[in-house]
Amino acid sequence: CGIVGYIGNRDSQLILLEGLKKLEYRGYDSAGVAVQTAQGLHIRKAKGKVCELESRLADYPLTGYAGIGHTRWATHGKPSDTNSHPHADNEKKISVVHNGIIENHMVLKEELEQLGHHFLSETDTEVICHLIAHYYKDNLIQAVQQAVARIKGAYAIVVLSEHEPDKLIAVRLASPLIIGVGEGENFIGSDIPAILEHTRNVYVLGDGEMAVLSRESVELMTLEGNFIAKQLLYIDWDILMAEKNGYDHFMLKEIEEQPRAYRDTLRGRIDEDSQSITLPDMMMNPEHIREIKHIQIVACGTAYHAACVGKSIIERMTRIPVEIDVASEYRYRQPIIQEHTLVIAVSQSGETADTLAAIREAKLSGARVLAITNVVGSSVAREADHLLMTWAGPEIAVASTKAYTSQLIAFYLLALYIGQSIGSMDLAARAQLLTQIKELPDQVQNMLGHMTQIEQIAEHIAGYHDLYFIGRGLDYTIAMEASLKLKEISYIHSEAYPAGELKHGSLALIEDGTPVIALATQEVVLEKTISNIREVKARGAYVIGVAFEGNMELAQAADEVIYVPRTDALLAPAIAIIPLQLLAYYAALARGNDVDKPRNLAKSVTVE
Ligand code: G6P
Repeated sequence: CGIVGYIGNRDSQLILLEGLKKLEYRGYDSAGVAVQTAQGLHIRKAKGKVCELESRLADYPLTGYAGIGHTRWATHGKPSDTNSHPHADNEKKISVVHNGIIENHMVLKEELEQLGHHFLSETDTEVICHLIAHYYKDNLIQAVQQAVARIKGAYAIVVLSEHEPDKLIAVRLASPLIIGVGEGENFIGSDIPAILEHTRNVYVLGDGEMAVLSRESVELMTLEGNFIAKQLLYIDWDILMAEKNGYDHFMLKEIEEQPRAYRDTLRGRIDEDSQSITLPDMMMNPEHIREIKHIQIVACGTAYHAACVGKSIIERMTRIPVEIDVASEYRYRQPIIQEHTLVIAVSQSGETADTLAAIREAKLSGARVLAITNVVGSSVAREADHLLMTWAGPEIAVASTKAYTSQLIAFYLLALYIGQSIGSMDLAARAQLLTQIKELPDQVQNMLGHMTQIEQIAEHIAGYHDLYFIGRGLDYTIAMEASLKLKEISYIHSEAYPAGELKHGSLALIEDGTPVIALATQEVVLEKTISNIREVKARGAYVIGVAFEGNMELAQAADEVIYVPRTDALLAPAIAIIPLQLLAYYAALARGNDVDKPRNLAKSVTVE
């Protein structure tokens, strides 16, 4: 979900709506605002996207200088007007927006009902309003502190009350919140794009911290009320980067930003003189690296697919064994963490609850944790012992593209860095790989200028219900991510299979015309992959190959081939995924889907 808050001298309705639009990628089941008007506190909310709320506000505007807003991704209670945030107490004097889950809401609800409180929605959030009302005597800050002390779970909460209309109160436990500091006005956002237009000076609220905002001041304190000092961070993201910049969709813009994201993620990390990698910001000294005996990588969704590539390349370059886990599974499988296990958590947003839970589990067992993330100051970044940033810039489309490929770049740098620290790679091999890595941005840029063929292929596959991606080795990892991309936004069912495994069962699904996308960049297994292509073709499949330029064998075996610039086999994922991201994009367009905001999904999932 997304949260915004404003207090200042401007009309809050507009600022809240603009902020919510920027946050829609965090959820878009419903949206709402509460504004302190001259006639008291008023709430407007609407099921559906922020534009629904906008038209309601056009008919029934709210004028006032303080307000809070929310865009929801449903967890408790179906998407509906009533279940939308903000929620309020029975007197409609205290309004609350909330991200996260209140685990003990049932117990609290029963207790409050016995005290005479009436609940209107099915949400867990509503108990917070009633609890604050219950504790409120004449001090809103104290009432919020007392209420928060009663709730268990994960939350980011913002409170606006008619009792004390000159302040906004924000509290955070395990769900992100930032405070934007302006002149004569202050802001709250669950994410940077919500406030970037107004200010670049922010406080990142930590767990168990509270902020009290007025027009002129921001006070930071612990939940117990002890004041704290915090460094103001300056966000140097380009506003244009956070907006569509003339593209029809964020996803296409972000696909085309990949050469820039590669360059930024590589910048300053390759020492030309010594042909080696320098990662000083990771703050992991050579002894730590030499101690590593095993690596476990945890992540979700697309970041998990980056982890699959990470495993393969770290093992090949360093011979250190690597396990990979979907973060939500890791915690409950009693992972074996030994002395000198390094756990790597990969997360674009740095706020994914499953990944955070896995980090905490790993730390409890004594593991050293390295985070690969795209968001400075995010929870994952703060909780890990070491940090390797990807510099993809803000990613807005729900389907991850540039963040994923930047994670791949981070893994190449990391694998090479470990390799050079433990001496597992000879200098010539390393220098050659470095040369090819440095060429990637230009190669991707050139390729992006010549991708017209993809639109036709997308139109062809858009008519099918099922599709298969096959590949061996690293090609299989590319297949997994390509398949997820297609599913997420085109809603075409697809599966990724190790090419050699299809014949052990799923080959039964291949019918006349079934599209099969065969990845064949890994030339050591090319002959085998081609045999697998023949197997599916013999059952009627229509095969679209993906290979390096000059691969003529594939042209003979497949019905058509998407050629990508040639690079080292280890680097293939960073190149071959790109036409398949575009394929998903155009297939979604051909099916008339909302590309940037696919149904049922949210960009950042802050619940387990
Ligand atoms: C959500 C998004 C996915 C993303 C996953 C992990 O489910 O819809 O696109 O891959 O979270 O996100 P993270 O921010 O941790 O990389």
